[in-house]
Amino acid sequence: MDFNGDVIVVTGAGTGLGREHALLLGRLGARVVVNDVGATLTGESLGERPADEVVRTILEAGGQAVANNDSVSTEEGAMGIIKTAIDTWGRVDGVVNNAGILRDRTFAKMSLDEFRAVIDVHLVGAFLVTKAAWPHFREQGHGRVVATTSGAGLYGNFGQANYAAAKMALVGFVKTLAVEGARDGIKANALSPAGRTRMSDATLEEEFASRLDPSLVSPAVAMMMHRSCPWSGETIAAGGGRVGRVFVAETPGYVNPNLTVDDLVAHQDVIFDQSTTFVPDGVPAQADYLLGLIKAAEK
Ligand SMILES: NC(=O)c1ccc[n+]([C@@H]2O[C@H](COP(=O)([O-])OP(=O)(O)OC[C@H]3O[C@@H](n4cnc5c(N)ncnc54)[C@H](O)[C@@H]3O)[C@@H](O)[C@H]2O)c1
Repeated sequence: MDFNGDVIVVTGAGTGLGREHALLLGRLGARVVVNDVGATLTGESLGERPADEVVRTILEAGGQAVANNDSVSTEEGAMGIIKTAIDTWGRVDGVVNNAGILRDRTFAKMSLDEFRAVIDVHLVGAFLVTKAAWPHFREQGHGRVVATTSGAGLYGNFGQANYAAAKMALVGFVKTLAVEGARDGIKANALSPAGRTRMSDATLEEEFASRLDPSLVSPAVAMMMHRSCPWSGETIAAGGGRVGRVFVAETPGYVNPNLTVDDLVAHQDVIFDQSTTFVPDGVPAQADYLLGLIKAAEK
């Protein structure tokens, strides 16, 4: 795979997964904006510029890269990140929204500040950076977006109501960008990664963590950033060398034109029966599915 100089922004690329994405994209011939604000796991300033080391490593390997130290979670920061791409190379072809922090706390004890801080980096950050790149994508009739979701968002996780809310929101975000971007050659997908980093280290057992070299996640990002990528609106799980599709599906369920709550209670097994499922690729498809089920029940 060759990126032929496509300009790709990777946010939060100073450490962890983002660093691996940036290094791989640089090796594959992309010109990379390595963004990182230099934050601790909880989002406080480290007083360091970790993006610089990643840029040096890409340059030493013969690639092209530039550092940016703005925060994704402010409008000025997000615009500054895209401005770095435009000022350096005159274009931007893709954005990997990877920057993230944690403020874990049980829901009972979680403050509004803890909820907002996490939403601001993961969700608002992805909105702002993608928003700043979007006019360039539309103008050139080409663009790629990846948002980083998480098993915590897709399936729920103890102590992470803020993080899970942000992460599942990003799935809806890319699905909608996929619909709206289709006519302009823009493709948007979500990545659900599993990689050994400072973020995962606190939670993973050694038997699992030792198999999760973070560089094994990055091929999925390269695939989703490349011009040849056929996917849009998808959620791809990647970790430990495994890549799979994650999807939201509906069961046919129970249909009764005269539904009562007693019917519902009596047919829970039918409602939860997953032997056949449908994966809508948008709201129109979901509506067609529902209409078909209602009509079938009327017969
Ligand atoms: N590691 C995993 O297994 C895993 C699993 C699921 C999801 N994720 C997600 O993958 C992404 C990367 O996580 P990681 O494990 O590499 O974590 P990490 O803590 O190693 O890296 C996150 C990076 O984001 C940067 N960052 C934080 N706030 C920022 C801001 N406002 N602007 C710019 N940069 C900022 C940090 O400085 C850091 O370098 C995150 O979105 C995380 O939620 C990771």
